[in-house]
Amino acid sequence: MAIKMVDLYGPYERIREEVAAGIREVVESSAFINGPAVGEFARELSQYLGVRHTIPCGNGTDALLLALMAIGLKAGDEVIVPAFSYAAPAEAVALLGGVPVMADVDLETFNMDPQSLRRVITPRTRAIVPVHLFGQACAMEPILGIAREYGLYVIEDNAQSFGAEYTFSDGRRKYAGTMGHIGCTSFFPTKVLGCFGDGGALFTDDDRLGERLRMMAAHGQRERYCHETLGLNSRLDSVQAVVLRAKLPRLRESIGARASAARYYTRRLEAVAEVAAPVEAPDSTHVWHQYTLTVEEGVRDALRARLAQEGIPTAVYYPLPLPLQPAYRELCVADERLDAALRLPQCVLSLPIHTELTTAQQDEIVGAIERFFKK
Ligand SMILES: Cc1ncc(COP(=O)(O)O)c(C=O)c1O
Repeated sequence: MAIKMVDLYGPYERIREEVAAGIREVVESSAFINGPAVGEFARELSQYLGVRHTIPCGNGTDALLLALMAIGLKAGDEVIVPAFSYAAPAEAVALLGGVPVMADVDLETFNMDPQSLRRVITPRTRAIVPVHLFGQACAMEPILGIAREYGLYVIEDNAQSFGAEYTFSDGRRKYAGTMGHIGCTSFFPTKVLGCFGDGGALFTDDDRLGERLRMMAAHGQRERYCHETLGLNSRLDSVQAVVLRAKLPRLRESIGARASAARYYTRRLEAVAEVAAPVEAPDSTHVWHQYTLTVEEGVRDALRARLAQEGIPTAVYYPLPLPLQPAYRELCVADERLDAALRLPQCVLSLPIHTELTTAQQDEIVGAIERFFKK
């Protein structure tokens, strides 16, 4: 069978009946928007994560926008985001008239570097958006400490690491997305917890922020046709909630399948000196949204082309650091020392990882990598 970068059909087969029944119920009751399934899913998510408020919304980008709106971000306010990441956090800041300030990341975990974060704080800084990249949580203990020291909001972007658990030095464990003032996530189909279209959610333990987020996701209404504030129209629809309700109880199992595939890759790749397997942070579990190698500089593109010739898909997340992107060059500010963020785009290579990947397929992938370096 052809090797896929992600496999969305396999997991569907395991929830087919449940989803069919749930969708039939939505259609027959015509409760397409804000139907009972959405409320039930929000309750189940709160319970799973141990948070007071879950606010479902239209997608992960809306979640970031809503979070920044809820903290009252104003034009000219600075928000610190990682320089090596998906663009959505920087974009949300800029769309609201804020200034995205780019911090460097750690060369090994790819996550925000707390030392760089500290270097870029100014009197105009309002918030930090740590992005839990590729499946593991950022170094939240130092990040939260710095935020407390300077009185900054922390808005976690957990689009890629739903289900990852962070352990504080006193032994407390918390899910990624539940440690800052607000957590944001995406249920885009390829995410570890993904639906059949667009979807997202916000999490908070703060009652005031929870109320504001709920209101802002509904055109600023608490009561119908009474607009207390500007907002968005951002909703999770009932069909997506049906899918997510079927997937949530199976999440641990699907993370387990990804983790055993990741362990197998790492074991097999130990002998290939030219590539470095992903480094697992000591304080976070990994949910393996991506399995990202670091390849010797100057070789990555040739390796990628060879793998493609052999029918092996790979991906480069991300090919250009955000401060060098045309959209952000002019409007962002960046740490003067962006060592890792400038280097990683030339070195990273993500291999196929999903719940359906077989060891035979992984052997084929690793074999092709070994052959490339032996020639
Ligand atoms: C880190 C990160 N943040 C935000 C988003 C935006 O999510 P969405 O596509 O649901 O708007 C994504 C989606 O890929 C992401 O990877």
